[in-house]
Amino acid sequence: MTETKQAHFKGKDWITTEEWSDNELDVMLDVASDLKRKFKGRIPHRHLPDQTIFLMFFDKSTRTRNSFEAGITQLGGHGHFLTSDVMQISHGESTKDTGIILSSYGHAIAIRHDLVPGEGNAYMREVAKWADAPVINMQCDVDHPCQTLADLMTIRELRGRNTRSLKVAVSWAYAPSYAKPLSVPQGLIMLLPRFGMEVVLAHPPEYGLMPGTVAAAHANAARGGGQFHTVDNMDEAFRDADVVIPKSWGCLDTMGANPAESLRIAKQYTHWICNAERMKLAKKDVLYMHPLPADRGNEVTDEVIDGPNSVVYQEAENRLHTAKAIMALTMAVRPVDYQIG
Ligand code: CP
Repeated sequence: MTETKQAHFKGKDWITTEEWSDNELDVMLDVASDLKRKFKGRIPHRHLPDQTIFLMFFDKSTRTRNSFEAGITQLGGHGHFLTSDVMQISHGESTKDTGIILSSYGHAIAIRHDLVPGEGNAYMREVAKWADAPVINMQCDVDHPCQTLADLMTIRELRGRNTRSLKVAVSWAYAPSYAKPLSVPQGLIMLLPRFGMEVVLAHPPEYGLMPGTVAAAHANAARGGGQFHTVDNMDEAFRDADVVIPKSWGCLDTMGANPAESLRIAKQYTHWICNAERMKLAKKDVLYMHPLPADRGNEVTDEVIDGPNSVVYQEAENRLHTAKAIMALTMAVRPVDYQIG
């Protein structure tokens, strides 16, 4: 039996999941599921007619940019794609002036600023202080809440709404392509224990995460009935896991000033790869997840990412539906109707 509900978080910034209650996140996911149903059924869902969102990128993107651009169009609005190098930010224009002026032209400002520890999250909070419109974090140095929301949606779709007692391995993996931000593993360890999951973080000694996010993971596990602990090898994290999320990230201390140093240190850990042998340590029906882009042949073998346990395309697709839920609920002038059940 379906039930129609209404929700609205008008004007609320989406900067980290830490600032959103469990109940608000549940609503966000229910709206995302309803928007997915409507998208698949070609049912119009123009919750944001004539609205504008500014999409500011300080880093590259495929999924995030396109999920937001396609999403705002499907919601009836328009997205302006902006890169910091073509804005006056590159000449030093202030967060105050950027926030006030863009929010006077439109209805939300979304920002990706993820490569330098200590900068991105602070930058978006400064913009949010001055902007008269919600600010949406499309990935910063601390969190990637758009990705982790899509990950939680994917886990629920495949394992049910009750995620208590699921074991999730969040592991570092070797990648030579670039020093990837820390925000995905940090976001995962903060979010998933809130929903009762046992999260095991694995990484070599040089690849520790921001202490504040690790502390939040412990606190959230204690509050949410989940568990959180850290180990120093991939095999231990993978053993009996229900979900594995192995991916690379850079070294916290040197990543901003010298990203090449992360890649140099990583060369001694090429055996940190998700392959078929390692997958056998996990449960038979384990879900393999990765936010993408993946370094095929280094972070993961083709056999695993293209294999029966991989759900990476469903995970990537859910970026669209969750991005739309975030925009609709924070930008709409009226409460959003949605169906559950
Ligand atoms: N996962 C993710 O954020 O992908 P993009 O870097 O392509 O946006």
